[in-house]
Amino acid sequence: MQNGHHPDKPYMLATGERAASRLDLLERMFGPATRHLLSAIGLRSGMRVAEIGCGIGLTAQWVSTGVSPGGVVVGVDSSSEQLHIAEKSAREAGTTSLSFREGNAYETGLPRNSFDLVYSRFLLCHLADPAKALEEMNSLLKRGGILVCEDHDDGGIFTEPPTHAYKRLIEISETVNRSHGLDSYIGLKLPRLFYAEGFSQPDVNVNQIALLRGEEKRFWELTLREAAPAILAAHASSADELDVICAEMRQIAQDESILLMLARVTQVWARKP
Ligand SMILES: C[S@@+](CC[C@H](N)C(=O)[O-])C[C@H]1O[C@@H](n2cnc3c(N)ncnc32)[C@H](O)[C@@H]1O
Repeated sequence: MQNGHHPDKPYMLATGERAASRLDLLERMFGPATRHLLSAIGLRSGMRVAEIGCGIGLTAQWVSTGVSPGGVVVGVDSSSEQLHIAEKSAREAGTTSLSFREGNAYETGLPRNSFDLVYSRFLLCHLADPAKALEEMNSLLKRGGILVCEDHDDGGIFTEPPTHAYKRLIEISETVNRSHGLDSYIGLKLPRLFYAEGFSQPDVNVNQIALLRGEEKRFWELTLREAAPAILAAHASSADELDVICAEMRQIAQDESILLMLARVTQVWARKP
């Protein structure tokens, strides 16, 4: 375990239908950079791919078109509710090369040394022991296979001009994450995690999302609302304060003169020797 003390607490955000619209929003913002990277590292037909912490399966579904014909994609998530939605979408899309299984990132139950590409996005930020999950993902790769992880860090979230709501968001996030044994800066630490796992030459790219307008500008307001039970349980804020912060975030979303630096996402990838 990362610090020897924290067994993983339950996932702090919503799952299933209650999570789907926020994950759709997330995909609209972060999907293009993900697809660009996966294409650039050589996603191609015939590949065997595993996505860990696949959520409602939006990336896995896109990947499944890139590996066909002949390839397979398996998505793993600890939430049966997320997977229910993922399976339904895959059925509706008529995708046959894509399957999902309920499992834990630390012990997926997938076959060792058998994937050309193993991928995770916004998973490690939810785990108390990200190194253990990385070890598991590494063990799934064939020699010469590629591990790709994407994650964010709270340093990439702020407004210009500075606002009370976003300053409090960072403080609240820090308190809740600490109570769950999670690292608010995991994105920036991905390269070191890769080195520690034995990858000798990881590559890195960082994307900063900046917004002036649009539905996406409400992302952190929606996230705060979803995380409210975990925030209250960690005594990081009160219900009244959360209402005030969310109202301010809504105003910020409508004010095009306020620049929201929404997230900084670090992408790291490396080939298994
Ligand atoms: C923020 S969502 C990201 C979903 C997807 N990767 C994406 O980028 O849209 C994190 C996902 O990780 C899953 N998760 C959390 N802890 C997990 C664990 N220990 N093992 C497997 N999945 C886990 C959650 O159920 C959730 O679907």
